[in-house]
Amino acid sequence: MKKLVSETSLEPCASQNIDKSGEVSTSHCSTANSNSGVRGLTEEVLAEEELTLYNLPKYYDIAFSRDVSGEINFYISCFKKYCNFEVKRILEPACGSGVFLLTFPKYGYYITGYDLSPKMVEYANEKIEEAGLSHRAKAVVGDMVTMKFNEKFDAAIIAINSLGYLNTHQEIVSHFKAISESLVKGGLYIVEISCACQNLEGERKLDETWFAEMNGIKIEATWNPYHYDTKNKLRYVKFRMRGQDNGRTFEFEEEHKLRLWYYEDFKRLAQEGGFKIAAIYNQEYQPIPIDSHITGELGALYYILVNKGNTQ
Ligand SMILES: C[S@@+](CC[C@H](N)C(=O)[O-])C[C@H]1O[C@@H](n2cnc3c(N)ncnc32)[C@H](O)[C@@H]1O
Repeated sequence: MKKLVSETSLEPCASQNIDKSGEVSTSHCSTANSNSGVRGLTEEVLAEEELTLYNLPKYYDIAFSRDVSGEINFYISCFKKYCNFEVKRILEPACGSGVFLLTFPKYGYYITGYDLSPKMVEYANEKIEEAGLSHRAKAVVGDMVTMKFNEKFDAAIIAINSLGYLNTHQEIVSHFKAISESLVKGGLYIVEISCACQNLEGERKLDETWFAEMNGIKIEATWNPYHYDTKNKLRYVKFRMRGQDNGRTFEFEEEHKLRLWYYEDFKRLAQEGGFKIAAIYNQEYQPIPIDSHITGELGALYYILVNKGNTQ
């Protein structure tokens, strides 16, 4: 794994396809050809080992930027359909740079997000403040395994496979219990994840490199799932980012260890954590029968979980 910081220009980049399955995680390693950190790339100097995707929210935001209005409308339609009360307060674990924290308030909701990365949280809060939304949105630092709130929320959402960062049954159940305890009874938890493909080879896509550009900053990102450990139900992904900001380039590569989901496990662990599955939807927001054979071939799916409130 390596990191490079130089004055050279970024080579022309590959296709512009942002893969929504982009689960991303937190194991980092880097060595550098420079001892100067990344001054000029971010507003501060980062130590070499800090050059990771989740320590660079500005670049994460560019690489993973997307219009979430369709998703928000879908979430709202689920709140209306599966909750017998009006949803007002939303919780978002693994909120990252805050795309949902900035958008839900525009639809009249209150939202609190949390994330393991203090840099993500700081960045999200800055953007919330800039947008004048601090009365409706905020981000705090917290770990999905244990984070609980005294305040009760009506619904929670977790997007783009972020739940995959919890690798073990114990961590996942602990998370579900913590969310269950932070929600009102009958509240919803909407989880977007992709299960393992029946044919794991089908998961390997030929081109998982995409390019994004914003405010003169150019980013090339590559997401490469390269090893599937079916025994321990883990998926290993190499993530590489190359960027150019203010005439300087940087590059790093890191490994993400993510849960390899199987529907039966997901169902059982959600149940153990206090939830029952009410519905499942695909990326076109079409329902998928909950008793059907669900595999990764169906793509990333939205699981609508209802809080049974048993864990309190
Ligand atoms: C793929 S990003 C998703 C960010 C955001 N939800 C979005 O849709 O753009 C995954 C996020 O999960 C966070 N994360 C990873 N492990 C976590 C944990 N144990 N607890 C809380 N957040 C975690 C990372 O810091 C990162 O911001």
